[in-house]
Amino acid sequence: MKVILFMASTLNGIIARSNGDEDFLSDDNWIIFSKLAKKYGCFIVGRKTYQTVQKWKDYNFDHINAKRIIVSKNSTFKLNDNYILASSPKDALHKAAKIGIKNVILTWGSKLNTSFLKENLIDEIILNVNPILLGQGIKIFSEEKFEANLKLISVKKISSEIVQLHYILLPHPTLDNHA
Ligand SMILES: NC(=O)c1ccc[n+]([C@@H]2O[C@H](COP(=O)([O-])OP(=O)(O)OC[C@H]3O[C@@H](n4cnc5c(N)ncnc54)[C@H](OP(=O)(O)O)[C@@H]3O)[C@@H](O)[C@H]2O)c1
Repeated sequence: MKVILFMASTLNGIIARSNGDEDFLSDDNWIIFSKLAKKYGCFIVGRKTYQTVQKWKDYNFDHINAKRIIVSKNSTFKLNDNYILASSPKDALHKAAKIGIKNVILTWGSKLNTSFLKENLIDEIILNVNPILLGQGIKIFSEEKFEANLKLISVKKISSEIVQLHYILLPHPTLDNHA
């Protein structure tokens, strides 16, 4: 299965304010995420991201035509209909594989992005860079010891504001290969 991490960030790699707000990101990022999720057929998000997005007025995961997997350690966490609950990142990938998913889009907060990276579970990264710098907030990857080499496969100007970078992860001696 191919695992693609999609994130929208500031120029200095911030994905949300410290309180979780993403007000500095344009709506185009959501539209691009939903198109990618539809194209690849499945998305996986953390429980907090799910709850954040459920509160938004104009955009909602319910409207994305794709399989939807939410990860939480709470096995009784109540989800809307048509969502699949997974107990860990690996369980999420396992459940996606079981329903025949070939490609999956991930979008998490920084800790889970880092644990996926450290477990060598990410094959590609698509990053929408937005024209703002923020001194504080949640970073794409949390500050931990890791190193990964990437190959840039495309750079696209998506709108007057967003540049999209698409990378594949190269094998690295400090990361085990999950393939
Ligand atoms: N700009 C972007 O592209 C972008 C993308 C995604 C998210 N965000 C933002 O980032 C913020 C959320 O980030 P976050 O790091 O706080 O939360 P998150 O990654 O969305 O969710 C964290 C939750 O996921 C579950 N989880 C994490 N690791 C797990 C594991 N190993 N096994 C089982 N469950 C696990 C836990 O849920 P339980 O506590 O229920 O066990 C944990 O509390 C939100 O503000 C969101 O809007 C931005």
